[in-house]
Amino acid sequence: MAVAPFKWDDAVQWDGPGAIAGGEELAGDRLDRARYAEFLTNYLVAEGKQRNYVLNLNAEWGAGKTWFIKRWYMELKADYPTVYIDAWQQDFSDDPLLTVISSIIDQLRDATGNKVAIPDGIKSKLLGLLKVGGKLVLKSAIKKAGWEDSDFSVEGEDADKLVDTLCSNHKERYESIQFLKQEIRQWVEGAVGLSEGELDYPAFILIDELDRCRPSYAVEMLETIKHIFDIPGVVFVLATDTEQLQHAIKVIYGDGFDAESYLGRFFHRRFTLGSISRREFIQQAIVDKKLHFEHINAWPKITDSQVLVNVLTAVCDHFSLSLRRTEQVLDRMIASIVNYQGCTINLIFLVYLFSLCEKNNEDYRAVVDGKMPTTDNHPKLKGFNALINEYVEQNFSCFIKAESSMGTHIEFMGDGKYRNPFEDKEYNVSLKELLVASYKSMLNPALDYSYSNRLLDLVKEYSSQCRKLTVKESSTLAEKELSQLERRLTTYKNLVELAVHLD
Ligand SMILES: Nc1ncnc2c1ncn2[C@@H]1O[C@H](COP(=O)(O)OP(=O)(O)O)[C@@H](O)[C@H]1O
Ligand SMILES: [Mg+2]
Repeated sequence: MAVAPFKWDDAVQWDGPGAIAGGEELAGDRLDRARYAEFLTNYLVAEGKQRNYVLNLNAEWGAGKTWFIKRWYMELKADYPTVYIDAWQQDFSDDPLLTVISSIIDQLRDATGNKVAIPDGIKSKLLGLLKVGGKLVLKSAIKKAGWEDSDFSVEGEDADKLVDTLCSNHKERYESIQFLKQEIRQWVEGAVGLSEGELDYPAFILIDELDRCRPSYAVEMLETIKHIFDIPGVVFVLATDTEQLQHAIKVIYGDGFDAESYLGRFFHRRFTLGSISRREFIQQAIVDKKLHFEHINAWPKITDSQVLVNVLTAVCDHFSLSLRRTEQVLDRMIASIVNYQGCTINLIFLVYLFSLCEKNNEDYRAVVDGKMPTTDNHPKLKGFNALINEYVEQNFSCFIKAESSMGTHIEFMGDGKYRNPFEDKEYNVSLKELLVASYKSMLNPALDYSYSNRLLDLVKEYSSQCRKLTVKESSTLAEKELSQLERRLTTYKNLVELAVHLD
């Protein structure tokens, strides 16, 4: 069956398992992921038609696995029996196999329009697999799986016996698994057969958020479901932050354990969602949010969305923020600046604080409370310079009013008048230099708006010889403007702390 090309440009409402009316919206594709979906679908359909296939979809936390899996699910289910399992939401049940099998059966039942009844045998076999210790736990597990007590005979001595005998009996457990595999196979056949040509093989079982689960649960989930992995015509896709999962495995089996080979045994292949350009992501996010920034009183002045893109990209790249954190910082920044009224806000410093607050709360506290020294020579305290140097230096293009802010001529005490050789234009500046200058001017709000010696030297030197400015020198040109912005740290602190409630 040919799969229509994926058109993911528009936002859609998530309508899969766990969806609530008016709930989650999946943004339009900003990462060119449709290409991946098309490739993976074609590949897995070819692989999975005859045999079973287990794919590990890998990407770091916040890089877009859940978005991808959900969006993909919504397309796949039109052509293939498809099951979506959020392992994390199901973490409660304490029994991975119950979670997976009950989700598979429930969702395949939906796919067949509820036309296939639960066969009698399956209930007792499922019960046989539960690793619960007693009737009460068993009952609550059944409830949580969304079934009725009446689906199962769990009353009286029989149930106790069932629990006791089946849980401890390995042979029985093995047979139960074989039986359930057959059942799943038959359910898939039912879904394809009853669909009157709409659905085809293979079935897709997409399992997300394993890396959000408790380590023991995640490992147990993997080890349990590997028993049902080998059903012909069924493709399993497990989305994980594979490096995180390897840590989890080492928590269980010890530091020296070769978690990579261990994981390798579960999967036929690993597919890594390509790393993304944060700039592109931010660019599209800003377009999507249709932000009106004409009246925002900020520096650098937001003349168009590119100014915001430059500032946000520089800061989020500086901290190597994940996509999720980047989007969070963007939303929080927007919420706070559209509400802000007061003197011109230092946007770069504000975005920096939002990101720092996400990245390292202790450092954030020291900065907003003004307790972090600007220099690095304090015997005990970390200095702001050292903090900045822990992360990646960034340069970006920024409009500086080098002429308007300083005037056409600059008067030097006892040294005559020099023409200001600089103009108002875009300069390539250093994030680090701007942040250090901003923080300094905030720690000393009493400073008058004098020129720094560096700035004066630059004017003098540059008026005698015209050459290209270095990034550091260009950044110095912003000092005058920086000193004229809102300089009370508490203003910034309040803005950040109001907006962090926005999750
Ligand atoms: N292709 C995409 N287009 C637009 N936004 C995306 C895309 N992929 C992810 N996002 C957004 O990035 C953030 C993190 O994505 P998510 O899927 O939750 O990451 P993960 O599951 O890998 O931790 C979410 O806010 C999500 O909406
Ligand atoms: Mg996720």
